[in-house]
Order: sequence, then C-alpha cells, then structure tokens
Amino acid sequence: MTPSLYDRLGGSDGIRAICRDLVALHRANPRIAPRFAEVDPDALGESAARFFITGSGGPALYEGPDMVAVHQGMNIDGEEFLAVLDDALQALNQQGVGQREQEEVLFILYSLKPQVMML
Ligand code: HEM
Repeated sequence: MTPSLYDRLGGSDGIRAICRDLVALHRANPRIAPRFAEVDPDALGESAARFFITGSGGPALYEGPDMVAVHQGMNIDGEEFLAVLDDALQALNQQGVGQREQEEVLFILYSLKPQVMML
C-alpha cells in the first residue's frame, strides 16, 4: 500500500518546513505580499502546517476556521490564486519533495479554489 501523503511529505516536520518556506515566499511575492503584511508569519506558517498535516492523513491538529470562513470578504482573484500555487510548487521544490507528491499537493490546493476565491 502507498504510504499516506502525510508520510511522503516527511510527516509533521516536513510539512512544517514546507509551510515556513511557503509563507516566506508569499511575503516576497509582489503579487500577494500586501495580503500578508499585517499577518504574523510564524502563526500563519504553523496554522497552514496544521491544516495540511490534518488534510494529508496526519494527526487532526487543525482547529481553525474552514477555508470559506478564512477567505470570505478578501475577494481573491485568479491571479492571486495562481501566485499561491506558484509559491507552493516552489516551496515543495525547495524541500526536495518528489514530482508525484507535488502533483498531489497541487491537486488538493486546486480543488479548494471555490472555497477561497472571489468570496
Ligand atoms: C488553496 C489555497 C489556499 C489554502 C489551502 C489556504 C489556507 C489558509 C489557512 C489554513 C489559513 C490560516 C487560517 C487560520 O488559522 O485562521 C489561511 C490564512 C490566510 N490566507 Fe489562505 N489559503 C489559500 C489561498 C489563499 C490566497 C489565494 C490568498 C490571497 C492571496 C490567501 C490569503 C490568506 C490570508 C491573508 C490569510 C491570513 C488571514 C489572517 O490571519 O488574518 N489564501 N489560508
């Protein structure tokens, strides 16, 4: 049996490292950086990590609001959504995640598009 995506991403430590990189990339990405200017990067990295640990087959750590509640009222457009996917791909590459796992993560993120965009 194929191990869970959680295990293949390096478990909790691996996913925390990916999410730390992801938040740093968002803060440096001119298309979306202003969105994150007032957000505590460590708290966001930890929350994003817990969300993905929970969603990839790891322990159920995420206790934050659902994705609609988080992003409602932000009016996120398609370009911003793609910028987040670009950063996710780069963070996965930086952490040496394999192509198959990259594809699985991007598929999950893409499937969440209706829950974060244009709300
Ligand atoms: C599939 C795509 C996305 C996922 C899975 C996602 C996931 C999350 C999660 C888990 C949090 C933390 C929620 C909390 O603990 O309160 C969060 C916060 C946030 N997200 Fe997203 N997000 C996505 C796309 C986006 C996009 C495209 C933008 C805009 C460029 C965005 C902007 C934000 C901001 C600004 C926060 C911080 C809210 C705050 O703390 O005030 N997100 N997101």
